[in-house]
Amino acid sequence: MSLQTWLRRARRSLLATGTTAVLTATLIAGTETASHAATQGPCDLYASGGTPCVAAHSTTRALYGAYGGALYQVRRASDGATKDIGVLSAGGYANAAAQDAFCGTATCVITVIYDQSGKGNHLTQAPGGGAAPGPDNLAPATAAPVTVAGHKAYGVYVAAGTGYRNNNTRGIAVGDQPEGMYAVLDGSHFGGGCCFDYGNAETNNLDTGNGHMEAIYFGDSTIWGTGTGQGPWVMADLENGLFSGVNPGYNANNPSVSHRFLTAIVKGAPNLWAIKAGNAQSGALSTYYSGPRPNVPGYNPMHKEGAIILGIGGDNSKSSSGTFYEGVMTSGYPSDATENAVQANITAANYRTATITSSALTPGARVSLRASTPCCTGSYLRHNADSTVAISPITSASPAADKSDATWIVRAGLANSSCLSFESAAARGQYLRHFDHRLRTAASDNTALFNQDATFCLQAGHSGQGYSFQSANYPNRFLRHFEYTGYLAGDGVGGHTWDNVAYWAEDTSWLTAQPWS
Ligand code: AHR
Repeated sequence: MSLQTWLRRARRSLLATGTTAVLTATLIAGTETASHAATQGPCDLYASGGTPCVAAHSTTRALYGAYGGALYQVRRASDGATKDIGVLSAGGYANAAAQDAFCGTATCVITVIYDQSGKGNHLTQAPGGGAAPGPDNLAPATAAPVTVAGHKAYGVYVAAGTGYRNNNTRGIAVGDQPEGMYAVLDGSHFGGGCCFDYGNAETNNLDTGNGHMEAIYFGDSTIWGTGTGQGPWVMADLENGLFSGVNPGYNANNPSVSHRFLTAIVKGAPNLWAIKAGNAQSGALSTYYSGPRPNVPGYNPMHKEGAIILGIGGDNSKSSSGTFYEGVMTSGYPSDATENAVQANITAANYRTATITSSALTPGARVSLRASTPCCTGSYLRHNADSTVAISPITSASPAADKSDATWIVRAGLANSSCLSFESAAARGQYLRHFDHRLRTAASDNTALFNQDATFCLQAGHSGQGYSFQSANYPNRFLRHFEYTGYLAGDGVGGHTWDNVAYWAEDTSWLTAQPWS
């Protein structure tokens, strides 16, 4: 029976009861809900909830069902040309192929993250501030590949030193006005410095006092606030404090989170605020705090200024790292029901990690790994006779022994066959491993620890060039050269000299080269 026939019969049979209008309205509403469900974005849901988006940023997808404009702009290093990257169709996913075609083999950086809300609240390169000079670095455009609903897209990879800002916004909450915000982040990429944030901050790049910010923070900083476990935690950066709950310092209801794709939420209204988070791939949000403002001078009422930051603190503190895929800020304090609908929309978007492959890095291949940092582009990762690991210049005129020491046989990862291990071509049976965060070569002792220490997972190069190699057992640490020596290093995380944030992205990005032997 057709829908029209069914409707006619139903209407006839209900005429006597006077319920025709109700039936018609219900059916139309049902039809509309079904058709909107396929095309609504998070900002349509916030608008329906009476708390519209006043900023909507994403490099992966449209955040409104009708948005068909540019998502972000990239700039090509080879000639300085720029290109806007849009969506494949209105309401759809980023046109990553357009970026790939434009950038080719050149390095590209993300220069603008457009605001989809129509308010013009675009994010661009952050200027210097009270905590650090600028301008901040721009994110390499290829360092955070993912798929969304099966479509390739790129996130915003923030190494320490990278930051975006808009100090001249429209519609963003100021003073004690209510607002909400969410961000979808890489839960495995974080740092312990100050501060990987997304949200409301000072308009002059300075720390202007308690309550002058209201932003999502993600990381494992223990400077101000902590939750349970070792971190990382979703906290609220309210200025001069990362709050994990109502108390400065520790709050037992804020857990460490480990979702690869993380939904993080902060919202605030007069003497009311909340922190929520969830797995951006499935399931519901959890509330880590909801209640009155901290009982510390300056935070009630709030003194929000209405700038927008990404990847940095309010005073341009830029010592932390993270990856951003999408996020919005709203006018008004969103209801839990609205945020639940947004979370359902995010999980339906189906974020997945992209599989990074390289023919030069398939098991069985021989490869040499060339440093990409400007200092050292003629140097290769090699081991020495004493099993220490370093980079050193290798040329066709180098002794055969040096060439051999700078050649590796790629193996399936000893601890995880989706990752890689590197066997020395010169000393067969000896593998590249970390020990005490220093790199060395050693023969396998067949322990689980050795296998983990000798396994590295392939990632897109952090600087936008080549590949980065993530430790299997210390996911925040990567193969790095520092002062010509090989280390396992974190981006400001770890406390060793070789965890230095300067040139971290470049030092951890390696170019594959023809094997020297
Ligand atoms: O609130 C934590 C940080 O403190 C802010 O992000 C920064 O502005 C200040 O250094």
